[in-house]
Parts: sequence; C-alpha cells; structure tokens
Amino acid sequence: MKWYRVPDVEPNGQPFIKKIKPDGKNICLVGYEGEIFALSARCPHAGEDLSRGWCKEGKLVCPIHRFSYDLETGRGSTGQNDYVNTFPVKIKNNEVYVGINSFWGKIKSLFKREEMDYDD
Ligand code: FES
Repeated sequence: MKWYRVPDVEPNGQPFIKKIKPDGKNICLVGYEGEIFALSARCPHAGEDLSRGWCKEGKLVCPIHRFSYDLETGRGSTGQNDYVNTFPVKIKNNEVYVGINSFWGKIKSLFKREEMDYDD
C-alpha cells in the first residue's frame, strides 16, 4: 500500500468534504465528528460526485437521489444493495495521508492470501 499526503487538510476536528485525486483516483475525503474518512467519490447509483453531498448520521448522502453510504464501511443504506470503496486514512505529524493499493499491490495481496490458505 502506498500512502499519499493530502495537502491543505489539517486534522483539526472541523467538518469538511473535499475531493482529492491521489494516484489518479477520485476520492471523497470527509471530516465528520472529529474523524476523517476516505471513500470513492463516484456514486454507484448514477455517477454523481459524492463530494458535492453532505453527511448525516454517519453517512455520506449523494445530492442527486439521496442514496447514502456509511462513512466507515462504504456500505449503502438498506435497500440500495450497493457500496462505495473506502480507503484507510492515517494522521502523522499533523498531516493527513490516504492509503491506496496499486494494481500490483492488489495482485501481491491476492498471492499472499493464497499462501496463507496453503499454510492452513
Ligand atoms: S447519483 Fe447518487 S443517488 Fe443517484
């Protein structure tokens, strides 16, 4: 996994929603109730930019048809049967980082899982 520093965001507990593009990915960075979350910025329903939405009860709400996604898990609300990808966030030296698994990183992790299966 590669960690990307997010410029212009301070972990100061203030609420915010911001679109970032580490490694060419469209990610919605959300400050909510003192924590920071990172989710895919593309709404799986019809492609709206989720960074134009708002937060309510621990969920990111899409501004077009009001589908909502859990900030921690990315899971869509009941009845939606969809989800958005989430990304790990860490704070180091008062700077915010988002973790992205590259294509090759994902391939490597698949092989690691297979190796673990053989060990069982
Ligand atoms: S485009 Fe997001 S809910 Fe429809």
